[in-house]
Amino acid sequence: MNGQHTIGVTVNGTQHERAVEPRLLLSDFLRHELGLTGTHVGCEHGVCGACTVLLDGAAVRACLVFAVQADGREVTTVEGLDRDGTLHPLQQAFHEAHALQCGFCTPGFLMSLIPFLRDHPDPSEHQIREALSGNLCRCTGYANIVTAVQRFAASTAAASANAPGGGRP
Ligand code: FES
Ligand code: FES
Repeated sequence: MNGQHTIGVTVNGTQHERAVEPRLLLSDFLRHELGLTGTHVGCEHGVCGACTVLLDGAAVRACLVFAVQADGREVTTVEGLDRDGTLHPLQQAFHEAHALQCGFCTPGFLMSLIPFLRDHPDPSEHQIREALSGNLCRCTGYANIVTAVQRFAASTAAASANAPGGGRP
């Protein structure tokens, strides 16, 4: 219909079908079509990282992906991190380490860190800082974000793989 494409995208485990214009950005699809406003939009050209989501498990900048490119794929946003109202352990670590102030950047940091920590369960400080280098925060000075990641990694190691939820995702 009128240049629109019907796409089917699984977002946080729920399948959504929508007719969208080919130029619609994934960030706008998530925010305006699905109401998932946890995905923040800062620069809209791939610099700040605030819009980071997982696409089939990999971190992508939703402002650099068209919604039609997510057709048939799986998206996870920050809204998909908690379990029945319980914060994801990485969110909890951010909370405990005071790793946010205004919070605008936080969803992007979390979604960038999830796959990083999956691949680097015991990261060095240098690796953490490298991993954070694609996300901008104008408030914290980054130190507490690094601390939060270190706390998460330490608690995950302590909980080990057999503690339910300890190492997710
Ligand atoms: S809004 Fe996408 S990278 Fe800044
Ligand atoms: S906490 Fe404000 S931009 Fe990061």
